[in-house]
Amino acid sequence: SSSEAISSQSHYTDLLSKLPSREGWTVPLVLYKKFWLRPRLAINIMHLQTSFNARQDDIIIASNPKCGTTWMKALAFAITNRSRYEFGNHPLLSRHPQEVIPFIEIPLGVELTYVDTLSSPRVLATHMPFSLLPNSITTCGCRIVYICRGPKDAFVSRWHFENKISREYSINVKDALDMFFEGFSPYGPFWEHCLEYWRESIASPDKVLFLKYEDMTSEPVKCVKRIAAFLGVPFCIKEEEDGVPEKVVKLCSFEKLSGLHANQVGDIVRRDNMVIDKSVFFRKGMVGDWVNHISEEMGRKIDCIMEEKLKGSGLVF
Ligand code: A3P
Repeated sequence: SSSEAISSQSHYTDLLSKLPSREGWTVPLVLYKKFWLRPRLAINIMHLQTSFNARQDDIIIASNPKCGTTWMKALAFAITNRSRYEFGNHPLLSRHPQEVIPFIEIPLGVELTYVDTLSSPRVLATHMPFSLLPNSITTCGCRIVYICRGPKDAFVSRWHFENKISREYSINVKDALDMFFEGFSPYGPFWEHCLEYWRESIASPDKVLFLKYEDMTSEPVKCVKRIAAFLGVPFCIKEEEDGVPEKVVKLCSFEKLSGLHANQVGDIVRRDNMVIDKSVFFRKGMVGDWVNHISEEMGRKIDCIMEEKLKGSGLVF
């Protein structure tokens, strides 16, 4: 009922007010468990932990922000719907990947329960760290595809994004980097987010597939085949002969998607009143663009901290 909704809302607002809060990014972030979150998202995440109903056939795209979420959304949609649509007349040619695949914790102008109304099998996305995922996701056996990216490019992409989404606020690269080093960034610490999914992908390789943006760039067809197999819908011989994996790669490529009217014009409006230009999700789509924005020395500093944090895990960038 609405009175229950209001009382649970005030319950979360109350919890929120007890969390450490820190300024620096476009909005102050709160520290919930080990992670820095936008307050609105912290509330949503707390709420979802017990209320979200995962389904066994759900496919969850998980990522740190700016690590290739938009790309993976498009790929997962194209792979799982490949027999439903013609490549020449595909929904991804007229709809933004961010609108085709919703985030669990960031509803697009609708209630958090919106995803409950979608028919199975659902493809959903999240930036939630593994340890903050709703119980039902980790227990129902659904599959998670995690996309990770080298920290230098992810950081530079974040910094650009942050400066584009806020019209009145700008952050210089040095300040942003200092915060990043302290683990203070949206959904950060960055390394902690990667590590949680990395460990889970080793413990349960049939549940969590861990992919790197850089590998997807260098061997996209191989990665697309891997994703399809992991999701239980491997390409058959006939599809391979017909070049279907290549068609998926081409449709979802940066060149193709970034050039479409649907991805260039207009805004994405979110319930937390964030309005984001659709084009902001497509910037350069390159590996190694960091060198154009931060010094070699800063780059080495990022490498050092990552090495230290990932030590012994087997995860390297
Ligand atoms: P850059 O800012 O380095 O260009 P996310 O989708 O997680 O927000 O990540 C955004 C990053 O992915 C941006 O990186 C963006 O340009 C890049 N990107 C978006 N679509 C892509 C695609 N189809 N292929 C490769 N990279 C893509």
